[in-house]
Amino acid sequence: MWGKRASRPVGPPRARCPCHAPYSTTGLLYFTIDLMPRLPFITFEGSEGCGKSTHVKRLAARLERSRIPFLVTREPGGTPIGETIRELLQFAPHNAGMTPETELLLFAASRSQLVRETIKPALERGVCVIADRFFDSTTVYQGAARKLDRQIVEQLNAFAVGDCIPDITFVLDIDAATARSRMQAPRRADRMEQQPAEFYERVRGAYRELAEREPNRIVLIDGSGDPDKVENEIWEVISSRFSTLASVAKSKIEDRKSKM
Ligand SMILES: Nc1ncnc2c1ncn2[C@@H]1O[C@H](COP(=O)(O)OP(=O)(O)O)[C@@H](O)[C@H]1O
Ligand SMILES: [Mg+2]
Repeated sequence: MWGKRASRPVGPPRARCPCHAPYSTTGLLYFTIDLMPRLPFITFEGSEGCGKSTHVKRLAARLERSRIPFLVTREPGGTPIGETIRELLQFAPHNAGMTPETELLLFAASRSQLVRETIKPALERGVCVIADRFFDSTTVYQGAARKLDRQIVEQLNAFAVGDCIPDITFVLDIDAATARSRMQAPRRADRMEQQPAEFYERVRGAYRELAEREPNRIVLIDGSGDPDKVENEIWEVISSRFSTLASVAKSKIEDRKSKM
């Protein structure tokens, strides 16, 4: 996966190697660019309380210890425009009457800003991007759970993100009872967290289906285990898929130990 990114969000990946495409200098150019080292775009998904923010923070801390440049983003939000949309979507006192269509468009608007203002420039600067939710959330929440037209949702997702597709996505899977018990802690409950249990089950089921549909990109992780175990499982996957990232991390840690 290192240095490879699908060029579009739906459909089979475009042929990228001149061995698999009709010979042309353009093909060769794509091939060369694709081999340039680039740090991965990693997303975390799953229902409320599954542990996304916990593991985004833990992964960020791991990269920080290894002095690997990274950027953490969250959705909706992550840019000044996006944070205003976030407030409107999640906490504004007048948002109770928001229609599913409006909700879909607001999420897409926040994301398209985030991709162009923040994520793409960071990846181009050689920074690893870790995102707390991305376009799979729209497929699941507005598509499967709110039951909006699947094709429209896919098209809007494609329009919002362009060619900015995550290299790897972790879906943290937990059951409704575990999620409920984790959300007992005082927090500012948003609109999605006030949905009935049936909504939660649709979300969970849709994430599991998505993971089956896209096994190369999406890794389903049992989020109910001990947080250290979950963190190690995530790191194992990242270090086996992105060997350069893992070896940079290892060499920086060894380098630091030798100076101690
Ligand atoms: N594997 C885990 N085991 C037990 N508690 C966890 C685990 N992962 C997260 N938590 C706790 O569950 C709560 C929700 O986690 P959080 O990361 O905020 O979830 P999300 O961002 O997906 O809503 C937090 O109090 C967090 O400390
Ligand atoms: Mg969170």
